[in-house]
Amino acid sequence: MPKYVIGTVLVVLTIFTSIALTVVAGSTFMSQIPPTELAKHNMEIWGHSGWSIHDPWMKGDNRASPAGKGKTIFIREGCTWCHTLLPEQTQDWKYFGAPPVAGDAQGESPSLFGSDRKAPDLLHIGSRNKVKAWHYVHHRDPRAVTPDSIMPGFLHLTDDEMDALIAYLESLK
Ligand code: HEC
Repeated sequence: MPKYVIGTVLVVLTIFTSIALTVVAGSTFMSQIPPTELAKHNMEIWGHSGWSIHDPWMKGDNRASPAGKGKTIFIREGCTWCHTLLPEQTQDWKYFGAPPVAGDAQGESPSLFGSDRKAPDLLHIGSRNKVKAWHYVHHRDPRAVTPDSIMPGFLHLTDDEMDALIAYLESLK
C-alpha cells in the first residue's frame, strides 16, 4: 500500500478519535467538578434560566431575581470586554481579592472570567464598593466620578435594567 494512503488513514483516524473523545469525555468533564457552596448560592440568587448550563438557549431576562437579570445585562452589554471576574495570582489578590476555584463556576455558561483586562476586576466588587449611589452615577456617566475613565456611559439602560445590573454587582461579594 502506498505510504500516502497509510498516512491519510492515520490522519483521518486521529481526527475522528479526537472528535469522539471530545464528544464523550469532554462533555462530562466539567460536570465532574463538584459545585462549591458559592456556586450553589449563586445558582439560587441568579436563577437557573437564561445564561446557564440549565438553559443553554439563553432566553435572557426571564430570570427570577434582579441579580439574575443583571447578570444577563452584564453579558449582553459586553462588560467583560474590559472587566474580568478573575483576579490573577499576582499582587492583584491584595486589591481585587481571592481568585475563584474551578467549582465556583460550575453550571455557568458562559463563564464570565473574561480574558483581556482593561479595567478593574469585578469578582468582589460587591464587597469593595458598597455605595449604591456611586454605581448609579458611575454607570450613567463614568467621568462624573472618575475623570479619566474610558468606560462608556450606559445611558440606554432603563431604570429597571440599571437596578438589576447593580443588584448583580452587589451579589459579587
Ligand atoms: C471600554 C471598557 C469598559 C467597559 C465596556 C466597561 N467598563 Fe467598567 N470600567 C472601565 C474602567 C477603565 C474603569 C476604571 C475607571 C472608572 O472607575 O471608571 C471601570 C470601572 C468600573 C467599576 C468600578 C470598579 C472599581 O474597582 O471601583 C465598575 C463597578 C464597573 N466599571 C462596571 C462596569 C459594568 C457593569 C459594565 C458593563 C455594563 C462596564 N463596567 C463596562 C472600563 C469599562
